[in-house]
Amino acid sequence: MNSNKSNLLVPGKVINYTLSSTGVFGTTENCAFKLSVYNETTIRIQVSLQNEFFPNPYSVISTPEEVKFFWQEKKEYCILKTKKIELLIEKNNFRLIFKNTKGTILSEDASHFGINWQGTAVGCYKKLQQWEKFIGLGEKTGGLNRYGQTYTNWNTDHFGYGTNADPLYLSLPFYIGLHHNNCYGIFFDNSHKSTFNFGAGNNRFSYFTAEGGDLDYYFIHEKNVGGIISAYTSLTGKTPMPPKWTLGYQQCRYSYYPDKEVIRLAQTFREKEIPADTIYLDIHHMEECKVFTFDKKRFKDPTELIKYLKELGFKVVVILDPGIKVDKEYLPYREGNEKQLFLKYPDGENYEGQVWPGWCAFPDFTKPETRVWWAEKLIFYLNAGVDGFWTDMNEPATWGQTMPDLVQFFYEGQEANHKKSRNVYGLQMARSTKEGLTKFHKGKRPFVLTRSGFAGIQRYAAVWTGDNVASDDHMLAGVRLVNSLGLGGVSFAGYDIGGFVGNTNPKLFARWIALGTFCPLFRAHTMINSNSSEPWAFGEEVEAIASNYIRLRYKLMPLIYTAFYLSSESGIPISKSLSIDYTFDDKVYHGAFENQYLFCDNLLVAPVESYKEITKIYFPEGTWYHLFSGEKLGGSQELLWECPIEYLPVFVKAGAILPMQSAKNFTEDFNDGQLNLHIYQGMGKSEQLIYEDDGKSTAYLDSLFSKILIQMDFSANKLSIEKIAANYESEYHTANFFFHGMQFHEASLDGKMIEISYKNVAFLDEISEYDPLPDTDHTFKVCQNVPSFSISLEGNHRRSIQLN
Ligand code: GLC
Repeated sequence: MNSNKSNLLVPGKVINYTLSSTGVFGTTENCAFKLSVYNETTIRIQVSLQNEFFPNPYSVISTPEEVKFFWQEKKEYCILKTKKIELLIEKNNFRLIFKNTKGTILSEDASHFGINWQGTAVGCYKKLQQWEKFIGLGEKTGGLNRYGQTYTNWNTDHFGYGTNADPLYLSLPFYIGLHHNNCYGIFFDNSHKSTFNFGAGNNRFSYFTAEGGDLDYYFIHEKNVGGIISAYTSLTGKTPMPPKWTLGYQQCRYSYYPDKEVIRLAQTFREKEIPADTIYLDIHHMEECKVFTFDKKRFKDPTELIKYLKELGFKVVVILDPGIKVDKEYLPYREGNEKQLFLKYPDGENYEGQVWPGWCAFPDFTKPETRVWWAEKLIFYLNAGVDGFWTDMNEPATWGQTMPDLVQFFYEGQEANHKKSRNVYGLQMARSTKEGLTKFHKGKRPFVLTRSGFAGIQRYAAVWTGDNVASDDHMLAGVRLVNSLGLGGVSFAGYDIGGFVGNTNPKLFARWIALGTFCPLFRAHTMINSNSSEPWAFGEEVEAIASNYIRLRYKLMPLIYTAFYLSSESGIPISKSLSIDYTFDDKVYHGAFENQYLFCDNLLVAPVESYKEITKIYFPEGTWYHLFSGEKLGGSQELLWECPIEYLPVFVKAGAILPMQSAKNFTEDFNDGQLNLHIYQGMGKSEQLIYEDDGKSTAYLDSLFSKILIQMDFSANKLSIEKIAANYESEYHTANFFFHGMQFHEASLDGKMIEISYKNVAFLDEISEYDPLPDTDHTFKVCQNVPSFSISLEGNHRRSIQLN
């Protein structure tokens, strides 16, 4: 045994190995190992102290592609090579060194104890590389660069968490390392409580450990961060196309009740013409917090209520908590008991813990029968007309207490305890809920919003960042959380706008809603006993600002919906930390700029506290245009920028083509057919897709979509617009082009001259001065004299436009 005096066990010498079509497996003195080539960019490493492996059955959905790899045995090392990775396996004491094809080390296990066990805890220690940075790890607080920090993965109900608290609700054990202009990704696929240390409290290693289970990780190397995220989401799945209504504005509170209040809420949105799509029903919709019930006094006729809300163009999402009240009169409890669907102690008795309804039993979502049962239970809500579900408290939460470690989970037949299963509980609850919607809401695109989850959660649900606090710090922390989730393949994510805990002040709400406009999930939420938090609850000035931004969100819908389509194909997020596109620009990791991000690829958003009127912004390389005034700005510089409460700093990347539409009251509202295309002077060529489908069914999976492609060649001043897929009838009949930062005198469409006009473009409306004695003068920004023309989009032929 290769165990030293500190009880540290290491793999020891390689004894034997066998090559297979997908890699190699073998034994060392102390363990079994398996290296599987998934494709050119991804190699899976499994090391176990036993003769078999115990993989997580929940996160990875792909299998090795059987690509050719090269294998060679040398004196000290074996070498496994794909087209992108060279892996050295040290024979004397099994450890791994990953290189790129140029021979540069990407990641290297520490010698002697690179792979080790201390008791049941397994660890992998990697040498820290010079200037190494680390990004990702999902829903983790702290800075963009995680160097010098340590984090724990253990799904936790953390009410009103601090902006440095760890762990939170969801675990995503995937990070990206950056050094010497190279990047690599590591996904540690082990559901036990795990720790990631990125050079915290030591100057030699980054490492990851888990309290039990195998060393089972995927090493990914691609030329850029986007490529690594794509490869990671090829393993764990991409965020699928959401229903379009979920991209509109969503209003939530704990809780809107009774029915009359919900009706008033919906009517107020429509009376004030503030666009909104979704209303949430939180726990007060239930009788004694019993899931699959409606409180008969508060909601006399839920079906009628929801029908009326639909007439106003709203969709309804209800909360689902996993805790099933221990009550013999309550059917879900009786059924769960009879069918043996609840979590149990080893002696067969149900585990009971306290949560909203009092003492509860907990469905074992790691058991297929439980998932099927839960999915069927959803019919209760679907029959009432509910459109989507919000899976909450699924860490699972038991009043801030932790479940005893010996509670048993089925774990797809592996029979595991709480220590191994906790982190996948929320993932499986979201899965079962999505499966129920898919099965019983036939043909409709499912929507689930979850608090807890694990790697792969993006396949089942959107994620929100739990019980944040009404403060400026939280607003900015929420941006980093969403961007970090995005680095881990969770493209559909958001935070509670306005803050869940505490009372928001008017300026904070105004800034937060402006920021939320540029967040994939656009939802305001606040807790019981806090002040009202609707767009009109903070006075006329904030109402005007909120309404302005919500309308802007609807105007941007062609851009946002297309970005979701592209993300569903690539896995690359919609809210992109600058570390994705400007990876080796040190400035983007600077504390002053780490919150900046790109929304839908081309909008540079600079989040700023509500009380600031001036802020410093970093413009990465290239050229930028201020969205609201059209002002042109050079890149690779820091600038002080005025940020009055009515104007969040947002800039457009040179060369961008932004597809927009007219504002609507809700996503399925009448479309006037006007497609507004804002083109920003750039260099070379650029293009933009506009993806459309019915927004609500699964018909798009059978190619029922349309795609319009716009291409601009800035050096030849040529523009083209073409329908490259037309199985779905486009909603747009006219394209209105607006050229920012461009000068030309003539334009011809397929050889015929077209009329150019010069327009003032305002993306936000002017704010009126309500107070006769205003203490602030609102600015009003307009892009002036923007050359513009319109063309018809009737027919499917390609149109070419020459500008001179
Ligand atoms: C949890 C959720 C919160 C919800 C509340 C009541 O705290 O995180 O969003 O409103 O429970 O259901």
